[in-house]
Amino acid sequence: MSSTMDQSNASTTQIVRPARSFQGSVTVPGDKSISHRYGMLAGLAEGTTRLSNFSTGADPHSTLSCMEALGAKVEKDGTSIEVTGVAGSFQQPAADLDCGNSGSTMRMLAGLVAPHPHVFTMIGDHSLTMRPMERIRKPLSAMGARIDLVDGHAPMTIHGGPLKAIDFETPIPSAQVKTAVLFAGLQAEGTTSLSEAVRTRDHSEHALKAFGATLTRTGDRLSIAGGQKLKAVEATVPGDISSAAFFLCAALLFPDSNLVLDSLGMNPTRAALLDVITTLGGKIKVLMVEEHHGETIGTIQVNRSTDGLRGAEITGALSAQLIDELPVLAAIAPYTRDGVVIRDAKELRIKESDRIALIVKNLKAMGAEVTELEDGMIVPGNQQLHGAEIDSGSDHRIAMAFAIAALRASSENVIHGAEAAAISFPEFFTFLEELSKR
Ligand code: S3P
Repeated sequence: MSSTMDQSNASTTQIVRPARSFQGSVTVPGDKSISHRYGMLAGLAEGTTRLSNFSTGADPHSTLSCMEALGAKVEKDGTSIEVTGVAGSFQQPAADLDCGNSGSTMRMLAGLVAPHPHVFTMIGDHSLTMRPMERIRKPLSAMGARIDLVDGHAPMTIHGGPLKAIDFETPIPSAQVKTAVLFAGLQAEGTTSLSEAVRTRDHSEHALKAFGATLTRTGDRLSIAGGQKLKAVEATVPGDISSAAFFLCAALLFPDSNLVLDSLGMNPTRAALLDVITTLGGKIKVLMVEEHHGETIGTIQVNRSTDGLRGAEITGALSAQLIDELPVLAAIAPYTRDGVVIRDAKELRIKESDRIALIVKNLKAMGAEVTELEDGMIVPGNQQLHGAEIDSGSDHRIAMAFAIAALRASSENVIHGAEAAAISFPEFFTFLEELSKR
């Protein structure tokens, strides 16, 4: 594997050669979703929070910069982060809050800052400026915040102030929207209730409890009383299963692969991938499991069963639960025996890129047969792919997904825009090289 820098736009190209096998042990960096939440709540809390194994991805560091702009103190020593919070009162930031490429930062932070009596303007890069923010404005406006958007998009200006509780039903399965409402509800007057049609990742619920808040769940209805204060914690961020997903899928591609992942986040609302890996023909051994602040952390070993890779149908609630893993599952789909069908995943079109369109384009570039659907795709199995020029669309998960597809192609792949991997997983190409056997 080699990389070159295209000087004109700082885009990095990575060449990924086919591999013979995939073997080794790896510790993936701290979970992006949990790092955002711990960083935000630490910034609001009273006292100094000590976090270890904080994500190395650029996105959670965008969150930390925003927290500094809001008055929190942040000290970094590698992946150990100390955040001294504002004890419940954010300051008026001197400049716009730059969320970079991070939808999680913009949407969840909106709920956290809206109850504060200041004006907050949130900006982001080109991709983030294309993403829908109306989904945040609706509930927060119902709580009493005034939010200006440009045609439903960032820049987003929040005129904050005292909020009142609401009773909210999330129309789209989104943990970011749920979190924005919970973070605002924590600081509103009255008790905010929320129900989700599809249960999304529950890191915010665990994180709020870790920082001392009380919230209750009755069936699929969550309630949080306003006026609660948060206290600093010591916490370790579990490894990111959505980053591990790339290597888990790589391990499925070779009959003799053997992969051990330790300190891995295995929260049940994130671990649907492990079921799909098993459906496809992976064998997963759980070597150790423990719990920390409500989050499940474990060590797993993955091999492929001797009868090869079957197929899978990913539809309904499963599509929402696997939303970040769908790019890599689609990228390995041609190498399965029975193919992979993905439906009910329209949200993929409004992620960091239109992921359905880019996956289809890149699979076709590698010679695959694939049918694009409005809400997913049909990828037949039993296909042999060749190397191609891959367009990441500056989307981290597309760059990494096609680096995995490249391992079983008949010739080398050239991944353009490979630097995007650093949004969630800067070490990705180094680890890929160590684990790929040639
Ligand atoms: C995330 C939720 C998901 C996911 C994103 C992280 C989170 O987004 O795609 O990468 O941390 O809550 P949506 O809430 O838009 O589904």
